[in-house]
This record gives sequence, C-alpha cells and structure tokens, in this order.
Amino acid sequence: MAVNDFIRDNKDRFLNELLDLLRIPSVSADPKFKKDVFAAANFVKESLEKAGADTVEICETPGYPIVYGEKIIDPTLQTVLVYGHYDVQPADPYELWDSPPFEPVIKKTKIHPEGAIFARGSADDKGQFYMYVKAFEAMMASGDLPCNVKFMIEGEEEVGSDNLEKFVIENKEKLKADVILISDTHMISMQDPSITVGLRGMAYMEVEVRGSNRDLHSGTYGGAVANPINVLCDMIASMKDENDHITIPGFYDKVQELTAAQRERLNEAPFDLNEYQDKLDIEAVHGEKDYTTIERVGIRPTLDVNGIWGGYIGEGAKTVLPSKAHAKISMRLVPDQDWHEISELFENYFKSIAPKSVKVKVRAHHGGAPAVVSDSSVGYKAAEAAMEETFGKRPIPTREGGSIPIVALFQKELGSDPILFGFGLDTDALHSPNEHYGVKNYFMGIETIAAFFRQFRKLTDK
Ligand code: BES
Ligand code: ZN
Repeated sequence: MAVNDFIRDNKDRFLNELLDLLRIPSVSADPKFKKDVFAAANFVKESLEKAGADTVEICETPGYPIVYGEKIIDPTLQTVLVYGHYDVQPADPYELWDSPPFEPVIKKTKIHPEGAIFARGSADDKGQFYMYVKAFEAMMASGDLPCNVKFMIEGEEEVGSDNLEKFVIENKEKLKADVILISDTHMISMQDPSITVGLRGMAYMEVEVRGSNRDLHSGTYGGAVANPINVLCDMIASMKDENDHITIPGFYDKVQELTAAQRERLNEAPFDLNEYQDKLDIEAVHGEKDYTTIERVGIRPTLDVNGIWGGYIGEGAKTVLPSKAHAKISMRLVPDQDWHEISELFENYFKSIAPKSVKVKVRAHHGGAPAVVSDSSVGYKAAEAAMEETFGKRPIPTREGGSIPIVALFQKELGSDPILFGFGLDTDALHSPNEHYGVKNYFMGIETIAAFFRQFRKLTDK
C-alpha cells in the first residue's frame, strides 16, 4: 500500500521531527515557559502546512492559542476532526529523570524492545497527536486521502482547557465533522489493543488551613495551640472512611452504578494483578472496598491529595508550629457527577469539619465532566476495523481513569461521541519522570490512523 510505503520510507524523518517538537518545553502550567508554549503552537502550524493543509491558523485565546488546520478535498465527502494538545505537564522533579526531560533520547526497555522515546510529552500528547500530522502527510503524499480532515490542537489541556469551550461554541460550523478522533489515552498492551470508551471527570481544589497569626515556638505553644498541618492531616484523613469511601455528604448521590452484567463485562478485560503490582513495585493495591482495580480506576470516583506543604522542610530540624498549611486535592469523577456541584460539596464539607481552632480557605482550580462514549457508532466500528487490520486483533472497549474534559464538551456542543483512539501504554509514565512513548507505538499509530481513514470512508460511503 502506497501510504504504508511512504511511512516506511520516511521513518527516520517522521521520528526526528517528533524529537524536535519534544525539545520545546511547552509547559502550560508554569508561566516561565510561556514563550515555549507559543513556540510549540508555531511548530504545529508549520508542520500542518508542510504536511499539506490548505489553511492553518493560530487562533488566539486569552490563554494559549488553538492551532486549527484543514484539508478539504471535496466538501461532499466525510470529514474527520482531530483533537490533540501540544502543551505538557511540568517535568518536575527534574532530578528523578534519567535524561533531561526536554532532550529526547531513544532507549530500549523490557516493554519496548524496539526502543522508546524518553521526553516529557512523548506520550502525552505530542507523540500521539503528531501521528495524525504524519498520517495526513503520508496520505497526501501518496494521493490517498480518503476523507476531509480538520485539526484542532490546543495548548491548555493540562491546565483544564479553560478557553477551549468558548472556541468550540463559537466555531461549531468550522469544526463540523462526521467523526472526532482523539489519541490521548492508553491501550491495554501491544498484544491486547483496546479503545477507550470512558474517562473520568475532575474537580481540583486548593485549601489553606491557618492556625495562629504567626509561626510559633513549638515548645512555648506546642500542645496548646492548633498545628494547622496536624489539623489538615486529620481533616484529609476524615474525608474517607475505613472502606475508602469518600465521606463528603452527597458525594455519591449522582454516581451511576453499573449493573452486575456491565461490571462483569468490564472485568473481562485482560488484567494481571501480580504483574500490575510488580510493575509498580508495590506489595498490594489499595482502594475502595468491594471493587476491583479495573473498577476502582474506571467507574469509581476518587479523592486524592496531589501536594501538601507547610512548616519547615529545609536542612536539619527546626522546632516550629507553622501558621499555615496547604494542600492541593483533586477528585476524579464519574457519570453523572457534576464538577461544579462536587466542588461546592467539597468546600462546604471541608469548612464544616474544620475545628474552631483554625480558619480555612477553599478554592476550586478547575474541573471537567466525565464522559462515556458509544462503542457502536460508525466511527467506533471504523476504529475497531483499523486496529484489527494493524494489530491483527479486535480491540476491546475499556474505561480509563484519566480525564479529557473536552470529550464531554464535544458531546454536548458538537453532538458527537469522539473516538478515544489511544496508542500509549499505562507504563509510559505520563505526568511522571521518565515519560516515554514506544517507537513502535508511534509508527503503528500512524498506520492505524491511515487505516481508520480508509475504513471510515468505506463504512460511510453510500
Ligand atoms: N492524556 C491525559 C488523560 C489521560 C491519561 C486519559 C491517562 C487516560 C489515561 C491528559 O492529558 C491529562 O492528563 N489530563 C488531565 C486533565 C486535567 C488537567 C483536567 C488529567 O487527567 O489529569
Ligand atoms: Zn494528554
């Protein structure tokens, strides 16, 4: 096939271009990288132009821009909309990386004997959305682009996609498509391809607990005045009971319980608990009573402290009762929990459990809705057929624990269930030091995307 020949003949270049993109430290959370985030947007624009897009625009927002590009070969043909993000998570802590996060290197690993690209953003999401740019280029170059294509690549996904909602609502006509593809998730393994059909939502909070109006000598005052760090720890601990059930009143009110048959089906996915524990070097898993690991991640909500600070953390020892303690706490949500509602429930509860000896402040950072997408749409069927073509095995539908707030927004505003066509693995160390993406995953992804375009055209041609 001409497309696959083109991919094979241009392998080195396809890989090197991705490495160039990975060298740009486009960390959206940290203003220090502002110039780099804009540089990454430009890189995306130029690569879409080189690949053969007719129009490519950098759409400004109050935050980071959205890169929009399209190639309309025939307005009467089907149109595929591709969403991805060029921003990445902070690389901290840098000292835990084996090689610098923005100097990509390819190394072989047990899971990736052909090599994996180590760099922040390699799997999440630069390596994954760039597969579409290259598949598009390959289809164009071989004169075999079966459908129109539109690209919308944003730069604020890792900070909650705040400006995307407005863009989507204001540009419905521009974004009109027959199917939406997003590669920003995982597969079970190279041997067990899968397509994600569920993602959790998110409510992200920050809290401050204040004790006395200044730091105090822990001998003079210790035992008599509240230590806000101790209090914060108690408060956090009380937000879950002995079964790891979240104690915020009303928290589970809207949680959709699955039927026994649905749960059984979910648990049929290949999963080896020992292997899971071994890979993470843990002796036991931990989570809500009466749910399996697959369920705990896929269909149950969580409450987790992402960071906690206060007091003295420098060299040596200092005896002090700090004045303030802080924590960043996120909750992963499942259908039909609403993140605005959950943020409010959290705030009220957190304030209600604070002892009189402290004052608390609570604020919501950002949030996003959970989403479940169809596993019987024509787009899903095309994705299934494409994966079967390249992986030689029919993919199974899975529900994942991560969040992509735009998915629910697409459903609501564009009336379309996106295809969550991820090619990463859960061992890729997303958001972690030594993030990596398999070289094989990258090329298999490019081929599978080209196969999707063929299959989608075939299944939707009258
Ligand atoms: N690619 C991830 C989402 C993801 C990760 C889906 C793993 C499935 C499995 C995405 O870039 C991400 O990290 N999103 C954030 C969203 C948040 C900032 C609203 C997340 O899940 O923490
Ligand atoms: Zn991502």
